[in-house]
Amino acid sequence: MRVLIVGGGGREHALAWAVARSEKVSKVYVAPGNGGTAMMGGKVENVAIEAVDVDGLLRFALDESVDLTIIGPEQPLEAGIVDRFSGSGKKVFGPTKYAAQLETSKVFAKEFMCRNGIPTASYEVFRDYVSAKDFLEKTTDFPQVIKASGLAAGKGVIVADTLDDAMRAIDDLFEKRIFGEAADEVVIESFLEGEEASVFVVTDGTGYRFFLPSQDHKRIGVGDTGKNTGGMGAYAPAPLVTEDVMRKIEERVVVPTLEGMRKEGTPYTGFLYVGLMIENSEPSVVEYNARLGDPEAQVVLPLLESDLIGVLEASLDGRLGDVSFEMKGEAATTVVLASKGYPDSYEQGKEISVESKLEQLDNVMLFHAGTSFDGEKLTTSGGRVLSLTALAPSLKESIDLAYRAVGYVEFEGVYYRRDIGAKALS
Ligand code: AMP
Ligand code: GLY
Repeated sequence: MRVLIVGGGGREHALAWAVARSEKVSKVYVAPGNGGTAMMGGKVENVAIEAVDVDGLLRFALDESVDLTIIGPEQPLEAGIVDRFSGSGKKVFGPTKYAAQLETSKVFAKEFMCRNGIPTASYEVFRDYVSAKDFLEKTTDFPQVIKASGLAAGKGVIVADTLDDAMRAIDDLFEKRIFGEAADEVVIESFLEGEEASVFVVTDGTGYRFFLPSQDHKRIGVGDTGKNTGGMGAYAPAPLVTEDVMRKIEERVVVPTLEGMRKEGTPYTGFLYVGLMIENSEPSVVEYNARLGDPEAQVVLPLLESDLIGVLEASLDGRLGDVSFEMKGEAATTVVLASKGYPDSYEQGKEISVESKLEQLDNVMLFHAGTSFDGEKLTTSGGRVLSLTALAPSLKESIDLAYRAVGYVEFEGVYYRRDIGAKALS
């Protein structure tokens, strides 16, 4: 089987790693991939086509007789890649452009949850500055959470602690238009207290299977302080999501989401990311994403015992219930190494050195994100550069092993959080 993976981050490196393990797979293309997927060798090869170049990707899949395409990031989903591939008779794993609105339009997602009785923060939708301002001036209950409805590279959410912060946010969105048309519509919602968890589902629209629940670390600084980022590290399984909480998530969120999409004539297929806030064991949806999370994929994929390709094929054939979807009985932690300055402007082109001792560590995986080759030299080319995943019998051991591995990797200005997973231990 010949597989094409679309995207070039840490998540896609982890997908390539999981797919390449499958005996069913003879070739793995990653478009555009990164320095890490370039180095995998064997059946894995990078293809210089951007993830949003749907025409180029389809042409490649047709020319190279690709049997299955897996979409990593959200932008190609929004561009309708799944509809285009399906329309040309090419097998593709992901939601349609319409169904992907669960991620690509926060207004769509909130209205959908409301119609289907799925627990989420109460909200209002605004289409202009004046009505948003009127609403905020009457609000006494801060913080309020202000969100650009469209895709904004994970930066379109502002938690406003005061009226002043909120006013600045709606000015940025509606007047300065810092996110352009992604903020033509703005959601203002109440602030949810609690702790976040990420639950990922593989679904054929009706059947579904769960990956282990994980937790991301979205803020740049130790103790969850400072700016929001794409994610600075993750671990799984997240003890916060007990069996009882998982059952509530399944009954109150996952089942009604899949049923709602089906009943509305737009079944959701692919990976579904449910971002949750959990308070006193009660889950509410913070957001949906139409894909796996990054860096959560770098912990949930290595913890999958079963063959990922077997699962995705079964999903595409509508026999997800028949296939084994087993997890390893271990814990995983991933620590993201970022460029100095991230998530603001950061430096690039720094040479990366990896000590050979790293390869001798069992159960450690080095996933690349923003890396590329400058001739023979591996250099940094993004904000999040690498993520180091470690598997161990317990969470504590996996954290310790991940940080030991971090010690073997270096580039100028490397920044990482030193407290990934610490919350789960205390
Ligand atoms: P989103 O892109 O919707 O996931 O939002 C990004 C981050 O903002 C989330 O991961 C949360 O940390 C935070 N956030 C979003 N909505 C809320 C909310 N209603 N209450 C508290 N925090 C929120
Ligand atoms: N880790 C958060 C995300 O992938 O959106």
